[in-house]
Amino acid sequence: MPTFSQSHPMSGGDDQHSYIHNSSYQKAAIDVVEEKTKQYILEKLDLLNLNPDLSTFTIADYGCSIGPNTFHAVQNIIEAVKLKHLKESQENSLVPLEFQVCFSDQPSNDFNTLFRTLPPSFRQEYFSVGVPGSFYGRVLPRNSIHIGNTSFTTHWLSKVPEQVLDKKSPAWKKHYIHCNDSIEAVTNAFMVQYTKDMSLFLKARAEELVSGGLMIVLGFCLPDGVAMYETWPGIVKDAISDCLQDMATLGITTHEKIDMFSLPLYFPQFSEMKRVIEQNESFTIELMETVSHPLEAVKLSDNFITSMYRALLSIFIEKHFGIGEVDELFNRLAKKLSDHPIDFEKCKKQMVYYVVLKKK
Ligand SMILES: C[S@@+](CC[C@H](N)C(=O)[O-])C[C@H]1O[C@@H](n2cnc3c(N)ncnc32)[C@H](O)[C@@H]1O
Repeated sequence: MPTFSQSHPMSGGDDQHSYIHNSSYQKAAIDVVEEKTKQYILEKLDLLNLNPDLSTFTIADYGCSIGPNTFHAVQNIIEAVKLKHLKESQENSLVPLEFQVCFSDQPSNDFNTLFRTLPPSFRQEYFSVGVPGSFYGRVLPRNSIHIGNTSFTTHWLSKVPEQVLDKKSPAWKKHYIHCNDSIEAVTNAFMVQYTKDMSLFLKARAEELVSGGLMIVLGFCLPDGVAMYETWPGIVKDAISDCLQDMATLGITTHEKIDMFSLPLYFPQFSEMKRVIEQNESFTIELMETVSHPLEAVKLSDNFITSMYRALLSIFIEKHFGIGEVDELFNRLAKKLSDHPIDFEKCKKQMVYYVVLKKK
């Protein structure tokens, strides 16, 4: 049964607003763990045990978006598996390997751009397929994947908890458009949804991965005790809430529309993420660590931040407020960030977590 998600994809196409040109922040973190992934595969992936007659090695990237980050992550995995295969072939007779890559994302993801921009040299390395569907359910056949990868995806929940949009509920979000941790009942509602969704994600991957297969998960979380509104990404989303309020005051949108809008986003605290992964009984935890984001100490420019959030959120804004409001909102955000610069030194830091799981 396909599972549906209320989430929307990132901006497609390849113009200046596309995710392709506005995903270097995520890429910088992917680069940090590349070598760790390679080393882990070289040291621990057991090709012989996986299947001595294996001729097609299948990799899936869940929530791949439109590139180019997915291409780099996949290529790194393939290079490591090739090296490992060469090494193991010297001791045992292994069948030559071909690679298949399943690029998976929501059906509304711009798969055309993904395949159009797949570098020609990579096309010669592997056979690729597009797999539309929500990763909160099964998207691939049972026991078909040898390495699964996902980066910066599972903070997108399958839906906004209903009570957050219910004015009569103690978990009503007020005018905020995301879970900024300023209302405890709202945070709890999002946390419950995150826990459910993450368990479904792991359950589905456990069915798709072969025994001994690896699942690599990279994402953002908060250090325990840190609230979203204390971090710069929290401040930016609160600034977007403020811009929408200004637009409602001027009659460009309405307060009612804002009341009914929340992003299905939740950044867990580290211990929440750890708990939900530990509860899953289908995988052993091979690695679970946090790494510093290389741009953490850098003062990001207003333009960089505005373009990044526009690529992440414009489809959500367009669907709820209308296509005309996207330019207006992000022009206002750029001005607000320039008039009230973020004090990066005072902000609490988000963390990047890196987890490698092995299917039992
Ligand atoms: C920030 S992008 C990350 C893209 C890429 N993995 C990277 O690291 O640059 C998040 C991606 O997750 C996808 N996504 C969110 N919810 C999803 C779901 N329920 N099922 C499949 N993909 C989902 C979005 O469509 C989007 O492409």
